Amino acid sequence: MTERTFSIIKPDATRRNLTGKVNAVIEDAGLRIVAQRRIKMSKAQAEKFYEVHKERPFFGELVEFMTSAPVVVQVLEGDNAVARYREVMGATNPAQAAEGTIRKLYAESVGENSVHGSDSLDNAKIEIAQFFTEADIVG
Ligand code: CMP
Repeated sequence: MTERTFSIIKPDATRRNLTGKVNAVIEDAGLRIVAQRRIKMSKAQAEKFYEVHKERPFFGELVEFMTSAPVVVQVLEGDNAVARYREVMGATNPAQAAEGTIRKLYAESVGENSVHGSDSLDNAKIEIAQFFTEADIVG
């Protein structure tokens, strides 16, 4: 089934000029980038986006990191896009990520792990709506 998922290329990757390289892995995996914007996330945006993690010990560090440099927010479209992108990203901890995945190739640590992808179709809809309107998405 054709789905949309939400992706963020994180500050550790934009800082190292890896946007194009990450996008190449995404496109080679058969996912289409149907919306994309480079932004500097505000503290309020980051806190809202990661609200589910607000009780975690790393929450402050996560918000600090996500607002430390530009990010690229994206909508990806394709067959089973949510699960497919999670495969393409690899495990949250790059030490456990499979060969060829974005995190194995580029992530620096469990916190500075280069990319975010939605974990379910419901969350994909919620996350997309935080950064894009339907008019921004050109499939
Ligand atoms: P993401 O998929 O964006 O969702 C939550 C994020 O929290 C995760 O990627 C990591 O960037 C971050 N995170 C998860 N675990 C840790 C941790 N142990 N220490 C710091 N950051 C973490």
